[in-house]
Amino acid sequence: MTCPANHPKLNPTVRVTVTGAAGNIGYSLLFRLASGAVFGPDTPVQLQLLERDNPNSAKVLKGVCMELFDCAFPLLTGIKTTSDPKEAFDGAKAVFLVGAAPRGAGQTRADLITTNGPIFKTQGEAINAAADRNVKVLVVGNPCNTNAYICYHHAPDIARKNFTAMMRLDQNRSIAQLAAKTGKPVCSVQGAAVWGNHSKTMYADIERCTIAGVPAFDLVDQDWYHDFFLPTVADRGTAIIQARGKSSAASAASAAIDHMHDWWLGSNGRIVTMAVPSDGSYGVPEGLVCGFPVICTGNGEYEIVKGIELSKEGKERLEKSVKQLEEEAEHVKALI
Ligand SMILES: NC(=O)c1ccc[n+]([C@@H]2O[C@H](COP(=O)([O-])OP(=O)(O)OC[C@H]3O[C@@H](n4cnc5c(N)ncnc54)[C@H](O)[C@@H]3O)[C@@H](O)[C@H]2O)c1
Repeated sequence: MTCPANHPKLNPTVRVTVTGAAGNIGYSLLFRLASGAVFGPDTPVQLQLLERDNPNSAKVLKGVCMELFDCAFPLLTGIKTTSDPKEAFDGAKAVFLVGAAPRGAGQTRADLITTNGPIFKTQGEAINAAADRNVKVLVVGNPCNTNAYICYHHAPDIARKNFTAMMRLDQNRSIAQLAAKTGKPVCSVQGAAVWGNHSKTMYADIERCTIAGVPAFDLVDQDWYHDFFLPTVADRGTAIIQARGKSSAASAASAAIDHMHDWWLGSNGRIVTMAVPSDGSYGVPEGLVCGFPVICTGNGEYEIVKGIELSKEGKERLEKSVKQLEEEAEHVKALI
């Protein structure tokens, strides 16, 4: 990598906020952000890291910052740590909202929404007050779709479309399973998408997917799709907790990198999955943050892919997932 000091055409520094920076995902995310994996080799980054105001978080974050420093990343121009959301979002052009409690043993999804929802109200307000007006926000903390929904309601001065939630991990999991099953490279799998909510109700759609140019359903059969693929993708998070004793962190961070990279720089015509505020497409009520196939057009914009003819099964699966999003929206009505 060219040293920024000698770089002929360096872009302006991007201020990037990461919340929950001392957590598991943070530890995998920050180093790749600082290395240039998201904004490219011509764009320096300044990290603005938000953590809870408690001695343990501060202590861990201090250690993470020492390691970032020790990497001597040429593109990392500075690191600020704080427990004040407004300070963390000050001038931010890209925001990763990771900080939230993971689901505890015995906790229902509704309990998790009750615990984490208020965080995203406060952070939406702070983003509205302090971030760049064209900031791009990616919500990772669960339940990510509904947290993004809460967040944009509290940031009325920033375009709603700039608030997204992460379903790229579900798409990446789909691609990895298809590549492994067919023995083809992951990059030959195109057009796999995940619709709906980031939950077990998600619809992992391979109807229009091709693998090395061949329709996926010419290479895998319906039994494998229904009996292995769908449950494997939907339950992957649980399987990783069982195997590792901790929730997926490196793969979640990697998906967050993929999501923001493509949003910022474009997806080169490829279909990718983002959960975005619905514009009413496919009968999804306007405003719900729902997973859709999108194309990122390369200028920090994305478009929901229109005109897809979903099968009867696809429609039913999407409806079920959207119903869950509606129930979650109802559950957080008091926070809006
Ligand atoms: N969307 C996805 O695909 C996906 C995948 C994996 C994990 N997740 C979610 O990401 C979140 C983080 O996971 P993790 O493994 O890093 O958890 P973690 O518990 O290791 O880290 C979370 C961090 O957030 C901090 N935090 C909590 N509340 C905060 C607040 N109000 N402000 C700032 N920081 C705060 C905590 O102190 C902690 O350091 C969880 O909600 C998890 O369920 C989402």
